[in-house]
Amino acid sequence: MLPPRILGLLVILLAVQGLCKPTKSTEDLDYEDDTPFEEEDEENEEEDENLGPVEAPPQILSQRISLRVKAGSTVILPCQVIHTENYAVAWMKDNKILYFEAQPHVEDSKRIVRLPNNSLAIYNASASDSSNDYKCSILRQPDSINLTHRLLVDPIREQSAASPPPQHSHKGIIRVMPSRRVEVNQGHTIKLGCETDTQPPPEIKWFIENKKVDGYDPDVILDGNYITIRKVNRSHSGLYQCLAEDGSKTPAMEAINVIVHYVPEIEVKRHIVHSGESIESEMTCIVSAYPEAIITWYKDGKEITHKKGSIVLHHGVMKGNKTKHVLKILHTSMQDFGEYECRAENSVGRDTKSITLTGVPSQARISGAEMTNNDAGIILKWHLESYSPIREYRLQYRRKGDEKWNVIQPEVKDGKGNQFTVEHPIEELQPGSYEAILTARNAFGWSVPSEPHMFTGDYPSEMAQKDGNSAAIQTPGILLALILVVLSCAFTSL
Ligand SMILES: *[C@@H]1O[C@H](CO)[C@@H](O)[C@H](O)[C@H]1NC(C)=O
Ligand SMILES: *[C@@H]1O[C@H](CO)[C@@H](O)[C@H](O)[C@H]1NC(C)=O
Ligand SMILES: *[C@@H]1O[C@H](CO)[C@@H](O)[C@H](O)[C@H]1NC(C)=O
Ligand SMILES: *[C@@H]1O[C@H](CO)[C@@H](O)[C@H](O)[C@H]1NC(C)=O
Ligand SMILES: *[C@@H]1O[C@H](CO)[C@@H](O)[C@H](O)[C@H]1NC(C)=O
Repeated sequence: MLPPRILGLLVILLAVQGLCKPTKSTEDLDYEDDTPFEEEDEENEEEDENLGPVEAPPQILSQRISLRVKAGSTVILPCQVIHTENYAVAWMKDNKILYFEAQPHVEDSKRIVRLPNNSLAIYNASASDSSNDYKCSILRQPDSINLTHRLLVDPIREQSAASPPPQHSHKGIIRVMPSRRVEVNQGHTIKLGCETDTQPPPEIKWFIENKKVDGYDPDVILDGNYITIRKVNRSHSGLYQCLAEDGSKTPAMEAINVIVHYVPEIEVKRHIVHSGESIESEMTCIVSAYPEAIITWYKDGKEITHKKGSIVLHHGVMKGNKTKHVLKILHTSMQDFGEYECRAENSVGRDTKSITLTGVPSQARISGAEMTNNDAGIILKWHLESYSPIREYRLQYRRKGDEKWNVIQPEVKDGKGNQFTVEHPIEELQPGSYEAILTARNAFGWSVPSEPHMFTGDYPSEMAQKDGNSAAIQTPGILLALILVVLSCAFTSL
């Protein structure tokens, strides 16, 4: 056992180490529809500097197979790999990613499952699972190692066309036009139809996603047996059903599935990411696209790729054709600061958004305002983040209408980790409204100026005398009102 004094010292040392640990540079984004996605293996975060034996080449041990099964069967496609510690392994079907490592890129990831031994299991297979190109791929530069399987799923025979349909069936009454499945690119015009030969002609009623067509969308034009959609966009995707109203209890119905291919749209929640040297920086793009877009990150026109121990690229699937893409720089250095770009591209088009990674302090936000003791001034309080020590603050304020700013330098106090607060009184206010702006500087430069904070020194002119103290004692009601005005200003600007 260690003597208690040394033990105590150790505990303190550990605690201090804990405090000094770099914090993450980004707040957690809170997307409601965010599906959790798995953290990449921790081993990626370790610098691999050991000069051990040359690593064995990665390999796929399984053999290619061709399977033919009946609809409803369970299919297991094997892909046993070795020496893939430093490589990602993906499953693809027709060159579309199904699984990237253990992360699903398929919507029905309960039915199509990547097993722990890296086999791909397909439960309740259907004809649409058929493909000559199920590929298991060890993603190695410059050329991946692939294993391709073939799968043919025989659909369950519906009633053979030869046998006569039952008398009361409505099958075949409606012919859909152009087909039961319509894929269309954004911006085009499509015409859907349900045609019948029965006499007298039944009235055709249309439903979109089980809702009666209401004529609310000016681009969806209803004309009896036909629907025309002009300037198709992604909101027009869905099931279009038509019902032949013939007065019977079981009117015939048909449906057309409209699938709109649309240009990717990138959403960035944080356009400026504040970080510092040797800490982790994280940038995120959310992409909505159909078909799924391919996302690439760029800095200064150069593509960024996964780099063991320093750069991690994450992908995650979210609801509603959205994917989440994270670029992590594990140990940020000076050269990493700058403009980043995430680019999303699919067969229809592309979108690009930029994110700035910077070491300067974040934009300060007002966090409080209160009267000074002599009631002739106001104490303003700001909050900001900086991942390196603050060197100076600059507080400027002026009365509305004045051209000149008053500039003061609030004192720099130690922050708590990367969180800093600034508090400074502004004295001798005149009646009227004021605005104040705070900027902060650290080793990397000046922050963006805070949003101007409005406050008022608006009290009756007799109180604007030098002797503010005695005036305040005589008229506490007015003072209270003044405080309320100031406070309400402070909180509306939060
Ligand atoms: C992988 O695991 C599944 C389920 O446990 C099993 O059926 C299959 O045979 C395994 N494949 C290989 C190649 O070990
Ligand atoms: C299997 O898939 C078919 C459609 O392909 C579906 O109708 C059926 O309910 C599924 N069965 C199970 C057990 O999930
Ligand atoms: C493996 O598949 C990838 C992606 O489809 C392709 O780019 C690559 O050339 C293939 N590698 C080999 C050796 O066939
Ligand atoms: C799609 O088009 C409709 C009607 O023309 C419009 O109201 C809607 O905002 C569009 N949606 C998108 C995502 O562009
Ligand atoms: C994804 O987009 C396609 C085509 O626009 C659409 O058919 C499908 O319903 C969408 N999926 C989700 C989950 O919104």
